[in-house]
Amino acid sequence: MLLLLLLLFKKILCHGPSTMVLFSPSFNLSQLSFLCLSAAQVLGPHHLAAEEPLSFRVLQTFSFANHSWAHTEVSGWLGELQTHRWDSVLGTIRFLWPWSEGSFSKEELKNLQYLLQLYFHSFPQQVQAFSSQFQFEYPFELQIAFGCRMHSGKASESFLNGAYQGSDFLSFQGNFWKPSPGAGSQAQKVCEVLNHYQVVKEIVQSLLVDTCPRYLAGLLEAGKSELERQVKPEVWVSKGSSPGPGRLLLVCHVSGFHPKPVWVMWMRGEKEQLGTQRSELLPNVDRTWYLRVTLNVAAGEAAGLTCRVKHSSLGGHDIIIHWDGYPILLICICLAVLVTLVILVLVDSWFKKQSSNQNICSPHIPNPAFPTEANIQEPRNSGSFLCLAQKSWIKNRFLKKSKISLNQP
Ligand SMILES: *[C@@H]1O[C@H](CO)[C@@H](O)[C@H](O)[C@H]1NC(C)=O
Repeated sequence: MLLLLLLLFKKILCHGPSTMVLFSPSFNLSQLSFLCLSAAQVLGPHHLAAEEPLSFRVLQTFSFANHSWAHTEVSGWLGELQTHRWDSVLGTIRFLWPWSEGSFSKEELKNLQYLLQLYFHSFPQQVQAFSSQFQFEYPFELQIAFGCRMHSGKASESFLNGAYQGSDFLSFQGNFWKPSPGAGSQAQKVCEVLNHYQVVKEIVQSLLVDTCPRYLAGLLEAGKSELERQVKPEVWVSKGSSPGPGRLLLVCHVSGFHPKPVWVMWMRGEKEQLGTQRSELLPNVDRTWYLRVTLNVAAGEAAGLTCRVKHSSLGGHDIIIHWDGYPILLICICLAVLVTLVILVLVDSWFKKQSSNQNICSPHIPNPAFPTEANIQEPRNSGSFLCLAQKSWIKNRFLKKSKISLNQP
């Protein structure tokens, strides 16, 4: 029986054409109990501008309510992007992206699916069967993460970790099951049992060192454009709920960016503000990210602070948003006043220039020798609004001059 099983999986895992997939429902599958196709963490630095490790994970959660009830949930992730889902009703792999199949052929994928069907069908059953021997107490949850990492697209590193009730329980190291530090005698016992199944260990090893890296290399290549998608962040600042009397919580919102790595800091000039606090990165529905970066400052010290954002999509041009601290209406009013003043000054200097060359309102310019109000009040018919404005300016100027000239004998 073991030999048959071994042949079956060797066949599947060595990705040869498997025209005869042999297994009978009467298999004793206990040796498969911990054959976990689960989470794969993969690095593809050559594919990313950013240095953040890109990971592929297939996460499994098995919930056991009682001796007869178990629930399985499985998902595959490439970095932060979900790529696969296990449909436990149909017993099929759901590919969430057109490129989620990676470089594997239909045949290989079908074989992998067979293996998973077998595993996801039998694993919960075997756990139920072994639960009292392993002292698992209902209700309980098992989680398994299986993966491999690729360094510079070449060397790969794999892992398989298992957790019981949310705590590290065991891992697969080299060619052995090892209890996690602190998992106690219970994990030790489980590993002792598991280590007797040489075939399972070989299959797990093959999945870890061969299947996983190959699959991930293909996935990274196929999903390249999605992984390298560059989307610029939008940045704005706001006031958070007051951290205390006389203090302000400055909030810098950075949203809609991709890929995930981002640098955000509250600054005063070129000086980073060490009190800057980052929130968790939250996903937006459009597969971009959101980050909140806060700074708790004394109210009087907020002016002059800026929120600075560096991201691969910005091509070295950091986004800098100033903390103004003034209500937006006040800023608008100030701006309006400023713009009006500038226009007035410009208009004024233009007329000055015009009148010094040739007076556009010229035929009505009074004779300086005989200044009268009537002369100066002139001429509604020919004068435009600007001319009238100019007139009053001339009037002021002229009257001053004429006062001087009148004082002179
Ligand atoms: C087992 O747990 C499930 C889910 O909580 C429940 O619906 C079912 O009645 C339980 N069965 C037994 C035999 O306790």
